[in-house]
Amino acid sequence: MQPIIAPSILACDFTKLAEEIHFVDQSTADWVHFDVMDGVFVPNISFGLPILKAVDKLTDKILDVHLMIVQPEKYVEAFREAGADIITVHYEASTHLHRTLQQIKATGAQAGVALNPHTPVSVLFDVLEDVDLVCLMSVNPGFGGQKFIYRTLHKVEELKNEIITRNLKTKIEIDGGVGLQNAEKLLQAGADVLVAGSAIFKAANRQDVITRMQNIGREKMI
Ligand code: DX5
Ligand code: ZN
Repeated sequence: MQPIIAPSILACDFTKLAEEIHFVDQSTADWVHFDVMDGVFVPNISFGLPILKAVDKLTDKILDVHLMIVQPEKYVEAFREAGADIITVHYEASTHLHRTLQQIKATGAQAGVALNPHTPVSVLFDVLEDVDLVCLMSVNPGFGGQKFIYRTLHKVEELKNEIITRNLKTKIEIDGGVGLQNAEKLLQAGADVLVAGSAIFKAANRQDVITRMQNIGREKMI
């Protein structure tokens, strides 16, 4: 199946944000990945609600919002109102994850859970039926441009097996250090969504990188 490609705008040129969003909007990429960092859950601060509102005005693509913040349940409704189509919270930041997943769904958004590299996929098995998207972090969250952690491939396989066994539609998203060098392995392992920041925004021909990632998925079907 063709993978869903989600360019992470954390890697874009913020001096021309509208142009950068326009590029993603006109490209064949599927989603816009939006990384929110609070300087507490992760050691970096990025952007938040007002910027999401602006991005929402500039594109009709699905807005995939990754909340790297503590107490994400406090902001679920606000991010939905600002334009989020998918709201992903971190397992490590959610004391009452089951409740937060219901809260996200009640807003009409799809519910995602992200796992840090050290967190096993099995921690989600008791809520998997309620999860639309699992975001497996393949770097420690907080910064773009880091090195991909290869152990993630085993996590993809384990999670995919569980999803298939239970006949669920939960999507597996990979976030961090993703590019043409590992896309094929990730798709073979069972990934559905590839987040790519640096690999797309720092490339000389950005659309070409997106097309090549999509073609890896197509070739897999033949
Ligand atoms: C990391 C973020 C990622 C990041 C990916 O905390 O969640 O979405 O932007 O960037 P690259 O593709 O550059 O590793
Ligand atoms: Zn992210």
